[in-house]
Amino acid sequence: MSARIAILTSGMSRGSNFEAIFNYFHKHRLPVSISFVTINREDAPIKERCERLKVPCHFLPTSDLAVFEEQLHALVDAHRIDLIVLAGFMRKLSGEFLKTVGCPVINIHPALLPKYGGKGMYGMAVHQAVFEAREGASGVTVHYVSDEYDAGEIIARKTVSIRQCKTAEEVARKVLKEEHSLYPKTIWSLLRSHKRLRRSAKRSLITYAL
Ligand code: GAR
Repeated sequence: MSARIAILTSGMSRGSNFEAIFNYFHKHRLPVSISFVTINREDAPIKERCERLKVPCHFLPTSDLAVFEEQLHALVDAHRIDLIVLAGFMRKLSGEFLKTVGCPVINIHPALLPKYGGKGMYGMAVHQAVFEAREGASGVTVHYVSDEYDAGEIIARKTVSIRQCKTAEEVARKVLKEEHSLYPKTIWSLLRSHKRLRRSAKRSLITYAL
């Protein structure tokens, strides 16, 4: 039986992780389907990618988060979603939603948590901070979503050497490439290791990628 995931995006999310996840499942012929993607702006660039790949895309505004969570909960139940995947979703989900939604929720962060995490530390701001601190390495962190911003139990993590990078933009490109590899693999490992993910909402660390 096929596993079902839902992907949440927000703002002007490019959808590059969505497409990397889609391509990974397709290339390896894995029994996973992306049941739907949510956007919170009608003009989100990811809409075009969803149409091209024939993945349903739902417009769910996040201006009232309680309403958003209620609508999302209904969709998750209707599609019997096994795992919710955040990809460029920049809002904080409530503890109540995370407790009651019935499946795990994961996110990807474009640096090594917890040092470069937290409110405001997303997009170019993270890469700029890592670059300006003259770090030799940045990285990618996949984590369960908690009710704190960009925090939660770490599932998988990959260090990316940035010694050769001359600008923060170069760091961003290198890290994004690593996201596109680590996120799909981690999602598949999670789905494979928790056959009854939705019912048990079990949590464990993926060790292969650490
Ligand atoms: C990715 O770099 C992801 O790590 C980041 O948003 C970008 C979305 O890109 N997420 C966060 O910063 C979470 N706080 P995409 O839309 O091209 O997949």
